Amino acid sequence: MSVTMRRLSRAAIAGLVAAAALTAAAHSAEAADTLGSAAAGQGRYFGTAVAANHLGEADYAATLDREFSSVTPENEMKWDATEPSRGTFTFGSADRIVDHAQTQGMDVRGHTLVWHSQLPSWVSSLGASDLRTAMNDHINGLMGHYKGEIHSWDVVNEAFQDGGSGARRSSPFQDKLGNGFIEEAFRTARAADPAAKLCYNDYNTDGVNAKSNAVYAMVKDFKSRGVPIDCVGFQSHFNSNSPVPSDYRQNLQRFADLGVDVQITELDIEGSGSAQAADYAEVVEACLAVSRCTGMTVWGVTDKYSWRSGGTPLLFDGDYNEKPAYGAVLSALGGSGDPGDPGDPGDPGDGTLSCTATYTRTADWGSGYNGQVTITAGGEPISSWTATVTLPAQQSVSALWNGTPTWSGNVMTVRPSWNGTLAAGASTGFGFTVAKNGSDAAPAVGTCTAS
Ligand code: G3I
Repeated sequence: MSVTMRRLSRAAIAGLVAAAALTAAAHSAEAADTLGSAAAGQGRYFGTAVAANHLGEADYAATLDREFSSVTPENEMKWDATEPSRGTFTFGSADRIVDHAQTQGMDVRGHTLVWHSQLPSWVSSLGASDLRTAMNDHINGLMGHYKGEIHSWDVVNEAFQDGGSGARRSSPFQDKLGNGFIEEAFRTARAADPAAKLCYNDYNTDGVNAKSNAVYAMVKDFKSRGVPIDCVGFQSHFNSNSPVPSDYRQNLQRFADLGVDVQITELDIEGSGSAQAADYAEVVEACLAVSRCTGMTVWGVTDKYSWRSGGTPLLFDGDYNEKPAYGAVLSALGGSGDPGDPGDPGDPGDGTLSCTATYTRTADWGSGYNGQVTITAGGEPISSWTATVTLPAQQSVSALWNGTPTWSGNVMTVRPSWNGTLAAGASTGFGFTVAKNGSDAAPAVGTCTAS
């Protein structure tokens, strides 16, 4: 989709604000016990990394939509995914995540603009002058496409070496453009989307050490010279060789004291049970203790899709069950009640009939697309459900299956055809074919009601 097209789409989506607000309200009303709502009570976001190819999995989408208030595309906004050949931008997978987040009222973190990894070979082979142009073009292309839609961008990622030297990491940018590439990237980024917070993001900078001291010196220098930087991301990938540092909070605070926000951007902690839970609680408490720590993102929804293959570093296990770490995070965020307690609204056994509706675009052929809405029953069995889908004004539905629609203007209300009865937690869904008629915007899915 072109930049212009995406802006048109955004305008179309803006016309659906009422429907989106309904979704967001439902999100928070039913979410007294979720990570996102508990974090919001502390003035923070609680996000997760998301992979576009899992959005069609009902349990993945249901857990994501229920628990999180911000998403970071795990790979879909990286250079190899978005500009695989020079000047040709491909946004399909990233757009799917952004559209999904917007229909659910979630914010989006952008990751990442300038990074030595997942970099197409055409970039590495450029000479200095061409590379500078390509870097700035890439920043402008991505940030222009998502202008106004990203709360924070990781402008530069992992530019410092591990170890005691505090030196810059060798990369095409460092080696050909020198130290100044980071400053140039931030200046270009500010002009491209003045509303986005601009972050430097790195790992092994979570405690006070030579690497974090080097980043600290850079941020201090940027602030003193007016180089536009708003935030520092602390990835926070922890395991037994790299545990949560004892001076984690102190390190976040010293960066905040420079006049930047701090964010925990890729949190995962290897382990299990109460030890893992205690480590997670420590991280959350550190963020809450630093007023400029504006939010936390865990690096994935479920252990089964973690980049640490074979590891169990996240809050939900492979079957989307809440782990002890989940309860510890929720509790540290001041969340109310035990989410597994039958006495809590929305939890199994409370007698409340409920359902959630999540939308995914399952196919796209340019002039049209197929949409799928997954309906998932809450903690009680249900015998029927109703979901609303609001289409952008230009679009028209040419076919619908596994549901019975009624229409009011461009709002489609769908009830079951044969698939009304669902066990607690079970899913079904309906699909539909849409003619775009010039608008590529995503439909907005409203509240699901159950009986
Ligand atoms: O999509 C291809 C697939 O087509 C192919 O068949 C398959 C075969 O290997 O590879 C798939 O791509 C993989 C991609 O993840 C999507 O799953 C890449 O090989 C794999 O290298 C890539 O790993 C990502 C990694 O960054 C790359 O550096 C992880 O998912 C992602 O979690 C990880 O995230 C990074 C942050 O961006 C920066 N900080 C560290 C963090 C963890 O490494």
